[in-house]
Amino acid sequence: MDNIYNPEYVKGLFNRMSSSYERMNYITSFGFSIRWRSQFLNSFNQTDKKVEVIDLLTGMGETWQSTKHKLPNSNLTVLDFSEEMLKYAKQKSREKFNNEVIILQQDILQNHLKSNHYDFVTCAFGLKTFNKEQLEILAHEVKRILKTGGQFSFIEVSKPNNKFLKALYGFYLGKVIPILGSLLLGGPEEYKMLWRYTDQFGNAKKANNIFTKAGLKTEFISYFYGCATGFYGQKTTPENDRSKTQ
Ligand SMILES: C[S@@+](CC[C@H](N)C(=O)[O-])C[C@H]1O[C@@H](n2cnc3c(N)ncnc32)[C@H](O)[C@@H]1O
Repeated sequence: MDNIYNPEYVKGLFNRMSSSYERMNYITSFGFSIRWRSQFLNSFNQTDKKVEVIDLLTGMGETWQSTKHKLPNSNLTVLDFSEEMLKYAKQKSREKFNNEVIILQQDILQNHLKSNHYDFVTCAFGLKTFNKEQLEILAHEVKRILKTGGQFSFIEVSKPNNKFLKALYGFYLGKVIPILGSLLLGGPEEYKMLWRYTDQFGNAKKANNIFTKAGLKTEFISYFYGCATGFYGQKTTPENDRSKTQ
């Protein structure tokens, strides 16, 4: 594949992985992913207010529980472009969230979300499949859809700085996971790709800088010796924007 960042390619990858994603995600992070999905919301203050939240690249709704824990009365909108991942998300909304989650199948890079609408933007484990230009679009879109004063938080699996940990993690994600992937999936290629993306991604520092350049206030954060990294922050200045409608 020449362009692993081609949205159609990425969508196909997640469509094919959807049936095993949740289990594999747990295994790939040594079970840390559940903890990380709650930790990455630590920068938000708990509130009972009826706030507007959007979870970008929501997958099957893995972050919803921690979001609802932190922001119990939030209106939760979620977005993903993989119809297969969203099948599971819709089921989860029906079975566990009273069918109240607003689920949008859209490409975030070409979305129809309203401007200045959201109090919070969340996104877990979705950064690695974007290249620099796509991250720039993402940053501008986050700025556009957030209200002034609105907050955001992103987290992604990363390559730790520590050489020993990096080698161990690389071996685990690059070699062990594709084997487990083949046992669960019948084809290890998709899970090999996840390591390729992580390897290219490194950590969230570059993405953090792109968000800062886009005019957002950001703070870089590292989780468990850099095995995951992310950034959080706020839209502090209003912008004049053409209003989009949903
Ligand atoms: C690694 S999964 C993360 C899922 C979930 N947030 C979690 O915590 O596990 C990344 C998700 O991003 C979605 N995605 C990737 N690029 C996208 C894009 N340009 N627009 C919308 N969704 C996208 C994929 O379909 C996939 O479901």
